[in-house]
Amino acid sequence: MRVLCFRSLVFIQLLLLVLSQDNPPGFISIDCGLPSNSTSVDEQTNLTHVSDDQFIDTGVNYEIAPNYATDELYTKYLTVRSFPSGTRNCYTLTSLSAGSKYLVRAGFLYGNYDNKNNPPNFDIHLGVNYWGSVDLPDADGAYFHEIIATATSNYLQICLVKKDRGTPFISVLELRPLLTTLYNDDANATQSLVLSARFDIGARSQELRYPHDPYDRIWRNYTMETWRYIETNSTVQPDKDFATPSTVMQTAATTSSTNQSLDISWSSDNESTVFLIILHFSEIQELPPTALRQFDIFGNGVLALNSITPIKLYSEWAKYTHTWHTEYTASLKATSNSTLPPILNAFELYVVRPTTGIPTYSGDVAAINKIKANYQVNKGWSGDPCVPTEFSWTGVTCTTESNNIPRITLLNLSSCGLTGVIVSSFGNLSTLNSLDLSYNDLSGDLPTFLDQLSALTYLDVTGNSNISTTLPPGLQQRKRDGNLMFRFGGASRYSRPSNNKTKILLAVIIPVAAVGLLLLLACLIKRSGFRRLANGEEIRNKNSTDLEDLELFIMVNCMTARKLQSSSSRQGTREFLAEVRHLSRIHHRNLVPLIGYCKDGLGCMALVYEYMSGGSLRTYLRGKDRNARVLSWEERLHILLEAAQGLLYLHRECAPPIIHRDVKTENILLNHMLEAKIADFGLSKAFRDNCTHMSITVAGTPGYLDPEYNSSCRLTEKSDVYSFGVVLLEVVTAKPPIIDGRNKIHLTLWVHQQLTKGSMDDIVDTRILDRYDVNSAWKVVQLAMSCCLETSAQRPVMSHLVSELKDCLELVLGTSSVMDSGRSSSSRRIAFEVAKNGESSLPDGPSVR
Ligand SMILES: *[C@@H]1O[C@H](CO)[C@@H](O)[C@H](O)[C@H]1NC(C)=O
Ligand SMILES: *[C@@H]1O[C@H](CO)[C@@H](O)[C@H](O)[C@H]1NC(C)=O
Ligand SMILES: *[C@@H]1O[C@H](CO)[C@@H](O)[C@H](O)[C@H]1NC(C)=O
Ligand SMILES: *[C@@H]1O[C@H](CO)[C@@H](O)[C@H](O)[C@H]1NC(C)=O
Ligand SMILES: *[C@@H]1O[C@H](CO)[C@@H](O)[C@H](O)[C@H]1NC(C)=O
Ligand SMILES: *[C@@H]1O[C@H](CO)[C@@H](O)[C@H](O)[C@H]1NC(C)=O
Ligand SMILES: *[C@@H]1O[C@H](CO)[C@@H](O)[C@H](O)[C@H]1NC(C)=O
Ligand SMILES: *[C@@H]1O[C@H](CO)[C@@H](O)[C@H](O)[C@H]1NC(C)=O
Ligand SMILES: *[C@@H]1O[C@H](CO)[C@@H](O)[C@H](O)[C@H]1NC(C)=O
Ligand SMILES: *[C@@H]1O[C@H](CO)[C@@H](O)[C@H](O)[C@H]1NC(C)=O
Ligand SMILES: *[C@@H]1O[C@H](CO)[C@@H](O)[C@H](O)[C@H]1NC(C)=O
Repeated sequence: MRVLCFRSLVFIQLLLLVLSQDNPPGFISIDCGLPSNSTSVDEQTNLTHVSDDQFIDTGVNYEIAPNYATDELYTKYLTVRSFPSGTRNCYTLTSLSAGSKYLVRAGFLYGNYDNKNNPPNFDIHLGVNYWGSVDLPDADGAYFHEIIATATSNYLQICLVKKDRGTPFISVLELRPLLTTLYNDDANATQSLVLSARFDIGARSQELRYPHDPYDRIWRNYTMETWRYIETNSTVQPDKDFATPSTVMQTAATTSSTNQSLDISWSSDNESTVFLIILHFSEIQELPPTALRQFDIFGNGVLALNSITPIKLYSEWAKYTHTWHTEYTASLKATSNSTLPPILNAFELYVVRPTTGIPTYSGDVAAINKIKANYQVNKGWSGDPCVPTEFSWTGVTCTTESNNIPRITLLNLSSCGLTGVIVSSFGNLSTLNSLDLSYNDLSGDLPTFLDQLSALTYLDVTGNSNISTTLPPGLQQRKRDGNLMFRFGGASRYSRPSNNKTKILLAVIIPVAAVGLLLLLACLIKRSGFRRLANGEEIRNKNSTDLEDLELFIMVNCMTARKLQSSSSRQGTREFLAEVRHLSRIHHRNLVPLIGYCKDGLGCMALVYEYMSGGSLRTYLRGKDRNARVLSWEERLHILLEAAQGLLYLHRECAPPIIHRDVKTENILLNHMLEAKIADFGLSKAFRDNCTHMSITVAGTPGYLDPEYNSSCRLTEKSDVYSFGVVLLEVVTAKPPIIDGRNKIHLTLWVHQQLTKGSMDDIVDTRILDRYDVNSAWKVVQLAMSCCLETSAQRPVMSHLVSELKDCLELVLGTSSVMDSGRSSSSRRIAFEVAKNGESSLPDGPSVR
């Protein structure tokens, strides 16, 4: 328990607002489910409630069932708005001021509006932060949830989030501005207060709120049989920290003797819950000069505040936070000198809720909301576009920048029925790197404000028949520099008239990866101590003849003397050993098992792997040995599938996940049965993952390296996917990732060029030309191209690749009879035609099922 502070002796005069027909400034009162533009007047407060129509664009209006609509029920509970679709639906309350404090209250009365007799449960969020859980026990009770929070921008969003039972709905939504000086230490930008209880002790009415409380807090009557009640007709001066209304303070409880304490008890089923209790007291009795009312406050028996003597007709407060219990009691006990029992006029109990979720950058939010409104995008977009990630908008991808503020990086409005011109708000999404506007009815120019998108690497306006295809100068330059992939053309989604323009639109950056240099040094095995790893244990084998007993293939992936010395430390060695030990515990059919490592006197390290007699996949595809066995198409598919499974295991099954970082045909090894296993994975953190240590960085191999690495300096799962895409193409074509011709050209670009002018036969390894299945080859090429998209977010994940490769294999096994009788010429023609007008987007392959 932590004592925060104790009472303030500064007072202010509180003006009760004279009741008028107008709602006080800043009050937002919404009667949810009312027809558009209509209003209702609340019988309790005389405040006008408006329809929720202008605050939300999702949901359906209902009236509660007639048998619940009794005469006593307040009008605002007669209608509800219900949210059968979408997981998260949000109200947006605008015209607030950033940094100001608000009380927000949401009211729910089920009233069997949906005729399902199923009061639902659901969560409520305030903006990007969890607020609470609504779990309605009955159909006729009106329940409200209230929170005191600080707005971090000029609007607040109140979201209903579907849970396991029933459909979320809402009856009433109210927002009241609070002075920032109120609840000052406890409700701020990083924490808010969720109301548990707010009681007026010995109240004169069951419930007191606006206009008696100018902030429209709801104070409820609270009594205990053992207490004694006193009251006054004199005004009690409110304090400035909580502005407790005089009416609330005019009634109070004491006990019958000084021996008896005033106790307030509550419980919680979660001992991590942090409670804030605020006690309000004031002397409201005329006391003789000799009398003394003095008391201490205990929290679960521990002294929290001592020797409090209330001042006559002035509001005072005491508060403390309470946690790490499930049962709580606040006790007011008279001190030994006191002649009178303790007094308590009112109290409030809150749960302290952290509000540390960071919303999307406000400029992005404003821009995407403009876009949403302008085109009336109907994708169920509601709330924050990026946060929390599980509710991020469909078609929107975000990344978090180093300052932790999420930004929008991908916007996919493909097939959204957009009409009209491209609006300037697109230019405000300044961190966008992919914009997909394909298959809409957009017209006009590609405006110059798109030049503001300086990170754009992908722009797709395919399938907008009346849009100009001239890029503004900035983007044109980006395209010329190979930094932008621009797709256009095509009339509509379902009929693709052929188009004779053939342009190469696939731009692939060929990274000149002078990034890292792997110094290959053979370990001098004879002079080294060898460590074999078994069951995570090290067994030291000093005797080098042991080595010869093992069939060993030494991966000379030597962390050189320089490398270890430059990290100059035990630390470096220790990290290396920890990683090696970790790797030795990873076992998968498609991963080369690590047996041990060796270290020579110079500090040179080598890893020792199981011997793979088949050598590397590269040798089969492009080896020097002209007599080497040619892998059949089916074998190639098997190998690719196995390699993909190995990578999938690294990405998904290892904890922490392992990014290979150097996927290439040389690192796919084959055993004598031509089973593929991935080698050289996992030596990551200590030695590879840091651009600032250029000299000791090993980050991929030129030709296989994720083009995004240039800008992000970071290798991710999707970098492996990129590299694997290159491997796929290599296996189909048997060509190296960078083709040496008159000009050096990247394999992906070469394949694309071939596709636009010819057929699969121009691409496929000439050694298997008359023995491959065109459908599956087509599919593999398509997959490869999707892996090699510049924007990592657009690339598939390994699990997708595994399942697609399985399909390919099935295709081959299933159609082998057809293949034996020769390929059908029609399937070749289809491939050719699609390729020809596939200039604007990669074509879908021939339909095979
Ligand atoms: C509501 O009021 C707005 C503005 O006055 C008006 O444009 C709109 O048509 C009204 N809606 C209905 C349903 O009356
Ligand atoms: C609301 O207004 C009516 C009529 O003006 C009045 O009789 C009633 O007392 C008011 N209620 C409150 C709570 O002020
Ligand atoms: C909010 O209040 C809590 C508790 O008083 C404090 O720890 C936190 O630093 C405050 N946050 C800000 C942004 O002032
Ligand atoms: C306050 O609550 C007590 C106990 O429930 C009840 O006896 C009393 O009548 C209530 N006072 C008012 C004004 O409703
Ligand atoms: C307060 O005023 C009411 C009516 O004006 C009166 O009946 C009551 O006795 C007064 N209470 C006190 C404590 O003076
Ligand atoms: C309160 O305590 C005093 C002294 O300890 C005792 O004499 C008295 O009987 C007690 N009164 C009650 C009501 O318990
Ligand atoms: C208990 O409260 C903590 C902190 O508010 C929260 O993180 C946790 O999920 C809660 N546990 C349960 C079981 O609700
Ligand atoms: C009680 O009164 C005595 C005598 O006036 C004083 O010395 C003592 O400090 C007081 N105790 C408290 C807790 O105020
Ligand atoms: C877009 O950016 C321009 C300045 O480039 C600014 O004036 C405008 O307010 C922004 N619009 C939105 C919706 O953020
Ligand atoms: C956009 O979504 C469509 C389908 O909804 C998909 O085919 C397309 O690949 C997506 N575009 C990007 C850039 O992710
Ligand atoms: C194409 O757009 C231009 C204006 O950008 C317009 O004048 C023309 O009518 C449009 N044509 C069609 C077929 O929509």
